Amino acid sequence: MSLHDLPEVDVGPVTGRSARAEWRGLLIDSARTCYPVAVITRVIELAARYGFNRLHWHLTDDQGWRFEVPEYPMLTAEGAFLPRGRFDDYDSLLGDTRERAVAEQDERWTNGFYTDAEIAEVVAHAAEHGVMIVPEVDLPGHMMAAVGAYPHLGRPAAAPLPEGSMREHMWWPARNDLLWPTDEARDFVTAIMRRIAELFPGDYVHIGGDECAFPQWASDPGIGEWMRRRGVSRVEQLQSWFMDVAADVLRENGKRVAVWDEACEIWDDQDALVVAWDESRGMQRIAAAGQRFVFADARTLYLNRIDPDAESPQKGMVPGISVADILTAPWPETADPRCIGVQAGVWSEFVLDGDDLMSMLFPRLLAVAERLWNPDLDPADAAARIAQEHAALHAAGALQVLEKETHR
Ligand code: ACM
Repeated sequence: MSLHDLPEVDVGPVTGRSARAEWRGLLIDSARTCYPVAVITRVIELAARYGFNRLHWHLTDDQGWRFEVPEYPMLTAEGAFLPRGRFDDYDSLLGDTRERAVAEQDERWTNGFYTDAEIAEVVAHAAEHGVMIVPEVDLPGHMMAAVGAYPHLGRPAAAPLPEGSMREHMWWPARNDLLWPTDEARDFVTAIMRRIAELFPGDYVHIGGDECAFPQWASDPGIGEWMRRRGVSRVEQLQSWFMDVAADVLRENGKRVAVWDEACEIWDDQDALVVAWDESRGMQRIAAAGQRFVFADARTLYLNRIDPDAESPQKGMVPGISVADILTAPWPETADPRCIGVQAGVWSEFVLDGDDLMSMLFPRLLAVAERLWNPDLDPADAAARIAQEHAALHAAGALQVLEKETHR
């Protein structure tokens, strides 16, 4: 089937493109599930059909590293083939989500990496469809795959973790996921940023900055010396040191920088674009910051939350998000002149293949598109259009063709 068999849809600008809709984004998490290129290119075609123009491609995380870096071959030799996690520390899951994911994962191949040629194919396909790929390397936290491949980049083995639970600082127990502020880690970040700039021609690179467990740094008796060398007085500022290292390389290479909202609390770089995900905490950070931002609220735009109206059982987070929720969410932040757009996302902890992914994306991505293009929408009208379009996608087989390619 080809999407070309479907009649064109009339995506905006319905009422004129407003400045805040400059960024019409979708995040796909290939770090937890390394979807085949055929899945990514299909997602791009579908997203473009509904007027999305940015694919935020999450390529590194604790569970996997998905592109090659010649100076650091173990990132892909090892970091692309880690055992799939169980995510035992995640709560707020629908019923037997975790058990089903674990039971199903042996049947799925969710590891691997994208070769340079595959990345070039995705980039070219996206460009043909008017979509810019915004690659993400999440740092300095969420680096467990890299630290596993190159242990000297992470917590020195001698440093004990702080007493007690880290839950007061983080949502999950302590882990060795932070880059340490060493010369080796600076060289690593520099090489990675040069590489990502080489692989991706788009304007923006996202450098992460979320969920950085500062107490891990504070637990190192040697950290004071590193802080003096980096010219910082608070351990949190080591995060901005990392962000500066990454941003300097990217800017030398003609790129702009995007970060998650936690970073704007720490890093006062006014040229950075902030992707505001962290619900009320994120919106407070944005309110206090001066930067431009993209509204990516986890409560209403994280489509790895289950759809309560889904036809088949899903694996995902609760509370769920329905089409009606998206159509009627207030989103006052999007009226802020600093808001340049909206981004939905699907994280892949419990999304194991293209079929799972399509079930999370549709029909709800259509509701996000309605909100983007049609600020004066009538929710009942929009819901009817969405149902009709979703049925047309199903009838054309546009959401189902990926099964064989997924089981490679
Ligand atoms: C995020 O969801 N941690 C960006």
